[in-house]
Amino acid sequence: MPTFYIETVGCQMNVLDSELVVATLLKDGWTQAESLKKADLILFNTCSIRAHAEDKIYSALGRLRLVKEAHPEKIIGVMGCMAQKDNSLIFRRAPFVELVCGPGQIARLPELIQRIRDGKGPQMELSLERKGRSRHEVGSSFSFYDPMRVRTARQNPYQAFVRVMFGCDQFCTYCIVPYVRGPEQSRPVDEILAEVRQLVDQGCKEVTLIGQTVSKYHDLTTGTRLSGLLEQCEKIAETTPLERIRFVTSHPNSMTQDLFEAVRDLPHVMPYFHVPAQSGSNAQLKKMNRGYTVEKYREVCQQIREIVPGSAITSDFIVGFCDESEEDFQQTVDLVREVRFKNSFIFKFSPREGTKAYELWEDNVPDEVKKRRNNELLAVQNQISGEDSQKFVGQEVEILVEGTSKNANKLPVLGDSGDSSDAAEAGADPNEVVQLTGNTPSNHIVVFDGPRSLIGQMKKVKIVKANPFTLFGE
Ligand code: 5AD
Ligand code: SF4
Repeated sequence: MPTFYIETVGCQMNVLDSELVVATLLKDGWTQAESLKKADLILFNTCSIRAHAEDKIYSALGRLRLVKEAHPEKIIGVMGCMAQKDNSLIFRRAPFVELVCGPGQIARLPELIQRIRDGKGPQMELSLERKGRSRHEVGSSFSFYDPMRVRTARQNPYQAFVRVMFGCDQFCTYCIVPYVRGPEQSRPVDEILAEVRQLVDQGCKEVTLIGQTVSKYHDLTTGTRLSGLLEQCEKIAETTPLERIRFVTSHPNSMTQDLFEAVRDLPHVMPYFHVPAQSGSNAQLKKMNRGYTVEKYREVCQQIREIVPGSAITSDFIVGFCDESEEDFQQTVDLVREVRFKNSFIFKFSPREGTKAYELWEDNVPDEVKKRRNNELLAVQNQISGEDSQKFVGQEVEILVEGTSKNANKLPVLGDSGDSSDAAEAGADPNEVVQLTGNTPSNHIVVFDGPRSLIGQMKKVKIVKANPFTLFGE
């Protein structure tokens, strides 16, 4: 039987796309290879959000040149955002790559692989570029691909992502996503609910609804918004073992009262909001085309705190975006201090060809300054996260036990050589006491000792110690 290996980088969308590809390949009779080197088919699911992510993929590809020379029958393919963005450049930079497949074309992946195996030469399948075309035309070239789910294709059988939206229409001036993932489109409610039910039948306890701007979810046929979708998911949770419903990533402009009330009133919807602010300076927010002021952002956070007390708010920030002054940066620090995020993901601005910022402005904040601002903001955030974590000490929290802690803090990257399901680990003694990990409703990571048999269960744990990133329980 032919074997495959998928290396995944990037966001939840990529993790989900990889799972769907794995499921399809398994159904087609492929098996997962133990390691990249042993596979007949090597796929890279790539990310274009920052230059660094792409550089890493090109170096990984470079390392495969000799492997391909020694084993010309192996197929090496690139899928995901970098495939859509760089397209034929990939064949030029790595001529031994035979497959390039954009994220809107993964439904065609099995057919493309077959064509290569039939000796038809390199294959490339992409969606249309957005520039100079109508939204509708481009939208239809990004084909929906959410086939039935397969439990064995998932890194963790108890948690799953469910795509509710494709693409993005926000066009933040620094961001490549609207170009590589295409126009924003919401999936029909019925389709999403059928997928959630299927996941629950497969033993899933926690589902995370994902979309680049998930708070804008709007099923045009039924008029359902995100709050309505959460209500429908709650109904499933009421009558099944589904314990938790989450959603990411929200955009401040589409977070409305009904959403906050839904999170407050629906017991299975977790009090966790990922709402990237990106900057605390109005001049920067304007230049980024974020569509809100820092005053509006603060209001949204205040509303969350008032309506859903105890909820966690997390954010993304970009430091060193074009023209960012020391004063702009200090306003970002002030915002972090004021809102007291549970945690923030902080990135140094990376110019992306094809975006408005790249075309119009100079990347004029020196790298040392970006680094310094990154570290400074991180230090402020870590102090807040540490204080926030300390508040849990002495409290009892309910967690979903995810697995053993050797996989903690690690994205469920498919194709990783780690074991795919701790609970299902062949021959593992369910009574053996190991270090386990789980997450609280507000998505804090908890580590504690317990028998393996707890994996996949909801448990009450008493927190005895904490650091900025982890709670330690008993
Ligand atoms: N440079 C740095 N960070 C970026 N992000 C998006 N585009 C860029 C870029 N060009 C960050 C944003 C976004 C997160 C997923 O990645 O903060 O919210
Ligand atoms: Fe990129 Fe902005 Fe869309 Fe997020 S909302 S994916 S940052 S364009």
